[in-house]
Amino acid sequence: MTDYVEVARAEGPRGEVVLRRRVVERGADVLELRVNGVFVMDSHETTSEVRLAEAALAVVDDPRDVVVGGLGLGYTLQAVLADHRVEQVRVVEVEDALVGWMRDGTVPHGPGVLADRRVTVVAADVAQAVAEAQHHYDLVLLDVDNGPGYLVHDDNAALYGATFLDDVRRLLRPGGAVAVWSADPAPALLETLREVFGDAEEQPLEVTLQQRETAYYLYVARVEDPVSTPVSTPVSRP
Ligand SMILES: C[S@@+](CC[C@H](N)C(=O)[O-])C[C@H]1O[C@@H](n2cnc3c(N)ncnc32)[C@H](O)[C@@H]1O
Repeated sequence: MTDYVEVARAEGPRGEVVLRRRVVERGADVLELRVNGVFVMDSHETTSEVRLAEAALAVVDDPRDVVVGGLGLGYTLQAVLADHRVEQVRVVEVEDALVGWMRDGTVPHGPGVLADRRVTVVAADVAQAVAEAQHHYDLVLLDVDNGPGYLVHDDNAALYGATFLDDVRRLLRPGGAVAVWSADPAPALLETLREVFGDAEEQPLEVTLQQRETAYYLYVARVEDPVSTPVSTPVSRP
């Protein structure tokens, strides 16, 4: 039987946020995050969180300004910061308590990640943050649910719809991209991204979970960059 030790718990307007430690016999203990009763991630298998950042950074020539939707335990953010082309990262996290635990060391690696001077943490719903954004970005990364088929909050359904994704498209500079993480194949999301952006691709990611091979999925769409197509007028960044 697995033993757990509760590390922190908070009750918010959207339900409970719980951080707990899974005690493992050999090797380092594992931190688990549950939001609104849903297991969202742990610190053991983080390759797909990292890959979300790497895959998206690979399709953007100049990813200076990045938005990360969903701080979680900060692995996607850490991978973004490892790219020296990145100058600013705005991380939007809806759970204030989790932001506090990352800042105060309740999540041991949290203060180190957030200390990077390029990071700004915004405690808000990413839908609201995108709607109110005053700035343009090169990359928007979304990892807020277990995918469109397994939501952490019912309201998040809108994040996979054409209206929100079109808001994201308008936020992006030419050549910019959006990438969305999903635990399962999400054909409707792929189709919506194709409608909104003109094209999009699904990237399956193989992962090993407790000695079981499985796959997660990334959905990546790019805003066409007129500079990389043969046009004569140079385009300046907005
Ligand atoms: C799976 S975790 C993110 C994991 C993260 N990629 C990492 O590397 O640790 C999802 C996070 O998104 C947050 N979240 C859920 N809905 C959100 C929303 N609408 N806006 C902003 N954050 C949200 C959750 O509270 C949780 O911290």
